[in-house]
This record gives sequence, C-alpha cells and structure tokens, in this order.
Amino acid sequence: MSALQPVTPPAAASGWGDRWAQQVDRWMTSPALGRWAGRSVFTRWLVKRRSKQLFDLMAGFVHSQVLLGCVRLQLFERLAERPHSLDEIAAGARVPAAHLQRLLDSAVALQLLERRGIRRYGLGPLGAPLAVHAGIRDMVEHNATLYRDLHDPLALLRDPDGAQMHAWWPYTDHQDGRAQAPAPTAQFERYSALMASSQRFVIDELLDSHDFSRHRTVLDVGGGLGGWVCALARRYPALSLMHLDLPPVSQLARQRVQAQGLAGRIECHPGSFLHDTLPRGADLITLVRVAHDHPDAAVRRLLRAIHDALPVGGELLLAEPMAEVDGQPATPDPYFHFYLLAMGSGRLRTPTELMQLMTEAGFEQVRRLPGHQPVHAALLLGQKTRCLPLDAGTSVNKE
Ligand SMILES: C[S@@+](CC[C@H](N)C(=O)[O-])C[C@H]1O[C@@H](n2cnc3c(N)ncnc32)[C@H](O)[C@@H]1O
Repeated sequence: MSALQPVTPPAAASGWGDRWAQQVDRWMTSPALGRWAGRSVFTRWLVKRRSKQLFDLMAGFVHSQVLLGCVRLQLFERLAERPHSLDEIAAGARVPAAHLQRLLDSAVALQLLERRGIRRYGLGPLGAPLAVHAGIRDMVEHNATLYRDLHDPLALLRDPDGAQMHAWWPYTDHQDGRAQAPAPTAQFERYSALMASSQRFVIDELLDSHDFSRHRTVLDVGGGLGGWVCALARRYPALSLMHLDLPPVSQLARQRVQAQGLAGRIECHPGSFLHDTLPRGADLITLVRVAHDHPDAAVRRLLRAIHDALPVGGELLLAEPMAEVDGQPATPDPYFHFYLLAMGSGRLRTPTELMQLMTEAGFEQVRRLPGHQPVHAALLLGQKTRCLPLDAGTSVNKE
C-alpha cells in the first residue's frame, strides 16, 4: 500500500517578492552581519532567541527521551503523592544514583520536575498534567515506536510501509476492500485502548464547543471504545446515541457501554464505513480523529455516506488535529505529518482542505467552531441542506 498523495504543483516565483526574500536570505546567512547582530543592542535579543530555538530543535530528541525515562520510572505518579529524594528514586530504578541524577536534573531543566531541597525532587509545572492523565503517559510510551521509525527520517520517507508503527493500525491495510486476511483481535484491542486513554482531551474540547442539547440522536462514526458517546449520554440525558466501528472494536465498545449501564441509551453498530451503509436516524454525526487516518478518496466516500445518512437539516461535526490551524505552519504539525506517514495511511489536512472535502460531499455552511486546545482537535461543523442525486462517483479505489 502506498501512502503517497498528489503533490501540489510548485508556486511560480513572484518576481519582486522572491527577489526580496533572496536578499533577506543573503543577509541572514552573512557571517559578518551575524557577528554584528549578535553584538548590537538592537538585535542581540533576537539572535539569542533564535540560537535557543535552534538548540532546542537539535536537542528535541534528548528532551523526548528524558520524558520517556521519567514516564518509565513512573516518576510523575510517585512525585504527585510526595517529593522523593534521589536515593529513594534510585532504589527502585536499578540505575546508579549519579546517573539517575542526570535524568532528574534534565527533567528539572525541562520543567517536568522541580527541586524541593538538596537532591530532592517534586513535580514541575509540565509534570503535573503527566501525573494526572494516563493518556499522555500512554502516548509518550507509544511514541517510542514512532521515534524508532524516525531514527532515519529519509528511510521512513522513502519506504513508509517498512515502519513498525504500521503494524499498530491494522485497518490501514484494509482501505481497498475485504480481500485481505483479517488482523488478530488483539491488534484492534491494542490501538483501541490507546485511543480511549488519549480521548479525554478531545471529549472536553467537543463538549465545550457545541450545544448538543439541540440534537435528538447522535451517531459517532469510527467511535472506538465509545468514550465519546458515553460522555454525551451522561451529559445529555435526553439524547439517544449510536456508535459505529469495525466489528472487533464495536464488540469491545458494546461491552464498555454495557459495563457503564448505558446499553439502553447507546446502540452499537458493527460495520465498515467504507463498505456498509451507515445507520439512519441521527440528526448529528460526529467524526472524531477518523478522517486523518484515511486517504482522500476514502474520506470523500465517507463524507458522502455521512451526508446520505443525515436528514435535511442534519449536521456533521468533524474533530481532529489539523495542519496550520491558525493559518500558519505550527510546531505540532511535524508530529502528525510523520505519525500519519508511519501509520501508513491518511494525512494531516488543513481546515481549508477539510472544509473543501466537506463541501464537495454536499455540506453547506461549513465553518470552524472556536476551540480552546487545537493541538488536541480543531472542530468543523457543516449542515446538510438538501438531498443530492445518487451517484457512485466517490469510489474508494480511485486513489
Ligand atoms: C484513530 S481512531 C479514533 C477513535 C475515536 N474516534 C477517538 O477519537 O478516540 C479511528 C477509529 O476509526 C475506526 N475505523 C477505521 N476504519 C474504519 C472503517 N472502515 N469503518 C469503521 N470504523 C473504522 C477504527 O477502528 C478506530 O476506532
């Protein structure tokens, strides 16, 4: 399977603007000017800031390994209970205290930990969320797979199908039909558990951004273990809910829904949104962290199927991390670009690209909903205002 996507044709150089940018490049790379800028009272703050930014970029891998080391020692949970001395931490870690101190002092520098006396450590401001949210710790551990794949970034770019991350996501091999052997259930359980533990932040974002009381029935497509529909059921007692996911995941979701006493409120539908008809009856369909896992042809087909499944006046709420979410390339973008490449399917899209895909599928009044934490998910809402003629023009096999 190839994760290749059409490449945008290069933009033509814009005469004057391009010449100006090249002149700026010459100034920025001039050693003499660099030395002057580093000394001048007017510019040295900028040189200092850029040097730090560049150093942090270079050291980023070390920073994420410090984080991983702390997670593996369960430091955040332990220090949330009480500060620990170096010797206490070293005793359970099977690491010489002098070596462990390097990890702990690095974590202090990164604000993950704080010094609370001589060779004594407590939680730092960035460590506190890690103590509270198992989902972040699970993602830190999971990212170890991505970073193994990224040890040679060009090798990953040349052959993404060789990535170990690919094995985590069995459905990325099943975009084109059902011909291939089904993956073992354990693989569905593994990624579903990870998604469930990291979904909390997206759920909060969704609940804060839209008034769900104006809907009667919500269908969550690709709903994983059902955390989102369960949260909706608890917050909105009058809402009826449906959930659809691949059969092995749907089965797990059904068990969770039953365990939470919500079986009477939530119908679980096993099926593939690429091959089966979506259940009817919802006036709102949610698509949470699903589109970015799929190539454009599959997303077109899915959005059209959602449009068909809604009544006139029904809405689609799409939530996922997006590129250039504030109109500019931003630091979370590289993570998702590479994660989705290693995963083996899909891509990070800008809000404009997703809005375009929703509009092509027939949605109107497509707009961004204001959110607090776009790093977890940005939100788009679109409405079905009319029925479209039936067509077969969105075949998933076109790409
Ligand atoms: C990245 S997970 C997101 C799960 C959940 N919405 C969340 O935010 O935690 C994508 C979900 O889409 C489901 N999925 C992928 N392909 C599917 C298909 N063809 N039909 C139905 N569900 C599918 C996966 O099983 C998985 O649960």
